Amino acid sequence: MTNTTELKKEYEEIAGTGDAERSINLFHKVRALLETGELRVAVKEETGWVINSWVKSVILMGFKYGKLTEYGGNPLSFHDKDTFPVRSFITEDGIRVVPGGTSVRSGAYVAPGTVIMPPSYINTGAYVDSGCMIDSHALVGSCAQIGRNVHISAGSQIGGVLEPVNAMPVIIEDNVFVGGNCGIYEGTIIEENAVIGTGVILNGSTPLFDNTTGEFLRKSESSPLRVPAGAVVVAGSRPVSNSFGKDQGIHLYCPVIIKYRDKKTSSSIKLEDLLRS
Ligand SMILES: CC(C)(COP(=O)(O)OP(=O)(O)OC[C@H]1O[C@@H](n2cnc3c(N)ncnc32)[C@H](O)[C@@H]1OP(=O)(O)O)[C@@H](O)C(=O)NCCC(=O)NCCS
Repeated sequence: MTNTTELKKEYEEIAGTGDAERSINLFHKVRALLETGELRVAVKEETGWVINSWVKSVILMGFKYGKLTEYGGNPLSFHDKDTFPVRSFITEDGIRVVPGGTSVRSGAYVAPGTVIMPPSYINTGAYVDSGCMIDSHALVGSCAQIGRNVHISAGSQIGGVLEPVNAMPVIIEDNVFVGGNCGIYEGTIIEENAVIGTGVILNGSTPLFDNTTGEFLRKSESSPLRVPAGAVVVAGSRPVSNSFGKDQGIHLYCPVIIKYRDKKTSSSIKLEDLLRS
């Protein structure tokens, strides 16, 4: 197995030199490890999530030094950097990719036991663990980290964060349920077992109201917006507190933690195991 410490050292030697040949060579080694899941853009340590910003930098080298090429052929011809071909799987990988317009870009990892419904897109640097359902019209953006047994419902968008390189990617921890038409962006962390109700949008500027404590949860300089473990979040609104909006009774969008997951929630989002076998 290639030693990731050695690869990091190699990156530090190459960075800023403009050496295209060594950069591409390193990129290919890193891309291969991203695809086996041995290397990740972000890892959870005891202190919390840590970003491997050098890995993101190496992915960017693939864009810088890759050459535009044609994939496929007419009438279905596509044009992208030769460093990012579409990934192809074999039956033994244990991943079900249902036919119909889905694409998994190279540099993305998908664990066995995950189901990808069409059309979905999984971008480079993303990590999708086992037992997930990536439903139709879902996006797993670049570098997003998706834990075990996560359900990303139809139409939901998990934003990509390739730049700036030290920016936290979106992280969805184990056993999270993301309802239909949600949008999770800008390094937001959804902690394990949380339930994101239909149509909830969260980005780095969104205040999240916890109705169980009366507090607003926000991103800070040292921490991204975090949805606490087990929180049940639904789309809500709050009145504008000043200026003309207040006079007009205008409300702003405001996601609300209505409660923490209980038996009722689990029965509301109960999934059919047979669909995942
Ligand atoms: C969040 C969700 C799971 C409900 O959780 P739950 O634990 O069953 O919630 P409850 O029914 O106990 O509701 C608790 C309170 O929140 C309110 N509430 C629940 N879901 C809500 C929602 N999505 N929007 C606004 N309010 C909601 C309820 O009206 C109730 O309020 P009340 O006590 O004032 O009456 C559900 O609303 C949801 O979004 N499911 C996802 C559906 C989906 O997108 N599926 C995709 C595949 S089809």
